[in-house]
Amino acid sequence: MSEPSRRVGIVTGGTKGIGRAVAEALLEAGLDVVVSARTEADVGAVSAELARAADPGRVLGAVCDVRSAADCQRLADETMGRFGRVDVLVNNAGVGRFAPIQELTLDDWQLQIDTNLSGVFNCTKAVVPHLIARGGGWIINIGSLAGRNPFAGGSGYNASKFGLVGLSEAMMLDLRHDGIRVSLVMPGSVDTGFSGRSAGPASWKLASEDVARAVVDLLRYDDRALPSRVELRPTRPPQR
Ligand SMILES: NC(=O)c1ccc[n+]([C@@H]2O[C@H](COP(=O)([O-])OP(=O)(O)OC[C@H]3O[C@@H](n4cnc5c(N)ncnc54)[C@H](OP(=O)(O)O)[C@@H]3O)[C@@H](O)[C@H]2O)c1
Repeated sequence: MSEPSRRVGIVTGGTKGIGRAVAEALLEAGLDVVVSARTEADVGAVSAELARAADPGRVLGAVCDVRSAADCQRLADETMGRFGRVDVLVNNAGVGRFAPIQELTLDDWQLQIDTNLSGVFNCTKAVVPHLIARGGGWIINIGSLAGRNPFAGGSGYNASKFGLVGLSEAMMLDLRHDGIRVSLVMPGSVDTGFSGRSAGPASWKLASEDVARAVVDLLRYDDRALPSRVELRPTRPPQR
């Protein structure tokens, strides 16, 4: 297969909220995009919509539950099968279950650790060999300011996102010598349907597009520069 000239980006959790905005922004920036999430119908609908807006050849939809190492391997394989290359992995898939520790269930603890932390490990492990083979690339993890600021009711979510800070920064140190840059984007509150919230208009919150812009801006840095952590917060949150 002759190698396509465009870079290819994979976005996990790319059907909604921040992930969808990142997928759109990557397309806009000229990358081909793989959109993935668990729900087959959403993956089909969103990838078809993005393909209509861009070009059918530039978008692939792939079902992948990041909690499964086998799914993440298949995601990498399908990407290579379709595009023959991968350059950027955006580990965005995430869930939040908020309850005081006395009430947080084992299932909700496990769901958050398996998705927000082990999911990043699984997808990274599946994609890194391809990045190394290409001589470099970029892994962008969507963390959260909840990865440095604990809050009541956030024990499971905080633990997963604090853990992600350690995972991201350690793998950044491991992979930089292979030309792979790892960045952690840590947004504050973003106006999405995250954790069952309804996205509301005229919000003080960040928009998904703000986070997508931070992601695409990272990709514009010269090879020698590695912005390893970006904190992005709403300018005017409610005053306490
Ligand atoms: N919204 C905020 O205020 C905020 C702030 C800081 C950081 N973040 C982080 O930003 C990321 C995206 O959040 P969002 O607000 O855009 O959430 P969202 O609107 O709920 O979207 C989450 C996306 O992740 C997918 N997903 C969930 N579990 C998955 C799994 N196991 N495997 C693969 N895909 C999965 C969902 O699709 P399926 O359910 O179909 O799989 C969906 O596409 C998360 O990591 C979140 O922690 C959010």
